[in-house]
Amino acid sequence: MMQRWNRKRSPLHLLALLFIVFIASSILYNESSIRQINDDPNLDLQQRQHETSISSSAPNFSTAHPKPTPVELDRFTTCKSTLKYSGRRANWVDRHRVELDHKKEDLEECDVFSGKWVFDNSSYPLYNESHCPYMSDQLACHKHRSPDFGYQYWRWQPHNRNLKRWNVTEMWEKLRGKRLMFVGDSLNRGQWISMLCLLQSVIPTDKRSITPNAPLTIFRAEEYNATMEFLWAPLLVESNSDDPWKHADILVFNSYLWWRQGPVKLLWSSEQNGVCEELDGLGAMELAMEAWAKWVASNVDPLRKRVFFVTMSPTHLWSQEWEPGSEGNCYGEKTPIKDDGFWGSGSDLPTMRMVENVLSRLSSKVSVINITQLSEYRKDGHPSIYHEFWETLSPKQLSNPVSYSDCIHWCLPGVPDVWNELLFHFL
Ligand SMILES: *[C@@H]1O[C@H](CO)[C@@H](O)[C@H](O)[C@H]1NC(C)=O
Ligand SMILES: *[C@@H]1O[C@H](CO)[C@@H](O)[C@H](O)[C@H]1NC(C)=O
Ligand SMILES: *[C@@H]1O[C@H](CO)[C@@H](O)[C@H](O)[C@H]1NC(C)=O
Ligand SMILES: *[C@@H]1O[C@H](CO)[C@@H](O)[C@H](O)[C@H]1NC(C)=O
Ligand SMILES: *[C@@H]1O[C@H](CO)[C@@H](O)[C@H](O)[C@H]1NC(C)=O
Ligand SMILES: *[C@@H]1O[C@H](CO)[C@@H](O)[C@H](O)[C@H]1NC(C)=O
Ligand SMILES: *[C@@H]1O[C@H](CO)[C@@H](O)[C@H](O)[C@H]1NC(C)=O
Repeated sequence: MMQRWNRKRSPLHLLALLFIVFIASSILYNESSIRQINDDPNLDLQQRQHETSISSSAPNFSTAHPKPTPVELDRFTTCKSTLKYSGRRANWVDRHRVELDHKKEDLEECDVFSGKWVFDNSSYPLYNESHCPYMSDQLACHKHRSPDFGYQYWRWQPHNRNLKRWNVTEMWEKLRGKRLMFVGDSLNRGQWISMLCLLQSVIPTDKRSITPNAPLTIFRAEEYNATMEFLWAPLLVESNSDDPWKHADILVFNSYLWWRQGPVKLLWSSEQNGVCEELDGLGAMELAMEAWAKWVASNVDPLRKRVFFVTMSPTHLWSQEWEPGSEGNCYGEKTPIKDDGFWGSGSDLPTMRMVENVLSRLSSKVSVINITQLSEYRKDGHPSIYHEFWETLSPKQLSNPVSYSDCIHWCLPGVPDVWNELLFHFL
């Protein structure tokens, strides 16, 4: 195995190990294009940085705290036995040793992330759901019979300043001649779709194209000589090719929920006997973030490449958090939470501290788009039951909509549009 790694020279292969993550909630991955990726016969699985093993259990977000049972159902598990994580690091990264800078930005003065949601049906939504040809059936809530439009009408108003006014022409000018690439999980994919929907209307249909070339999907706008791309990489450091994002000019990363599914197994590339090490999701995410940070530190020239990291997207799985005594989730919620500073238990604080710590060492190279607090308020913004289902719902499920609500992703138009306004604000 070592030899295989050595043949490839991507700095991303710093973390030459195999992550095996047990995913119990198919809601996180079961989208047509994502399935394509998992099923793509052309991928040489042997050469993949890591594999994810995926269970086939149906989405189940009942009011009970979901304790995903690791269900192993994959073709590629290679652990012959599993030990506790030894604390070992991917240490040959030292060859790329770089001074990480410790400068911390003064965020107080320019904090656009603390504020409130203001009802504004004159300027929102920023586009019409049914006019966007790139809309996903997982996110098109109105098309899937959402009786309510309320979630589309909210503007984010920072406490101490205004957000730069969204301007499609200006955004296109910023993208002229550039590659904008989103790298991450299905939440990041939602933000990419939002960006396509926000920007596509001014491009004539014969001057644009989209290549569904999983795991990389590329939207091209001819007259701006620009692309907007999405690379599926929920664990951030997996990659099938050398430096898949080396040539992007603007990069938008995220990673979080896939690490929250239970323990992760690592198989070091030098390990010949299939002995895996197991550690908790936070520890594994930290290993991945560190490998990513080293890549950024040695490969990003901030004058030529902009890098953004989008913080964890909150979930609204337990309504008792905003309405004590209740037993639901986001299903049926129609207005944002008003309680200033509301923070749900789905947004793990130790993870946030770890991410903050890694990012603070990269502050001259990576801008943080801190969406967590502002999205925490939006219990009304999730698809809940208003999206496409691939499986047939049983009468038992149908009688209890809470049991099959998606309280993880976000309807479009909606919350991710605001994440993109923040991106525009900082570009
Ligand atoms: C996932 O989606 C596919 C269609 O792409 C469908 O055949 C399958 O049943 C779905 N699985 C689950 C668990 O929802
Ligand atoms: C969801 O999970 C809970 C407990 O984990 C179980 O009691 C319930 O029957 C499940 N619901 C569905 C629809 O599978
Ligand atoms: C905006 O909302 C107000 C108050 O709910 C309503 O009276 C008005 O008709 C709405 N305007 C539009 C354009 O939807
Ligand atoms: C979106 O467009 C459709 C079709 O053109 C139209 O019927 C609908 O009223 C529009 N929706 C909004 C919210 O403007
Ligand atoms: C949007 O940006 C373009 C180009 O910078 C500018 O000409 C135009 O006036 C702006 N529109 C608005 C409504 O601010
Ligand atoms: C288009 O952009 C690429 C960089 O993304 C650049 O190499 C190329 O020269 C540009 N083409 C034109 C016609 O401007
Ligand atoms: C994001 O903002 C929250 C407060 O809303 C803060 O606790 C957290 O540390 C911030 N995260 C980062 C990575 O800056």
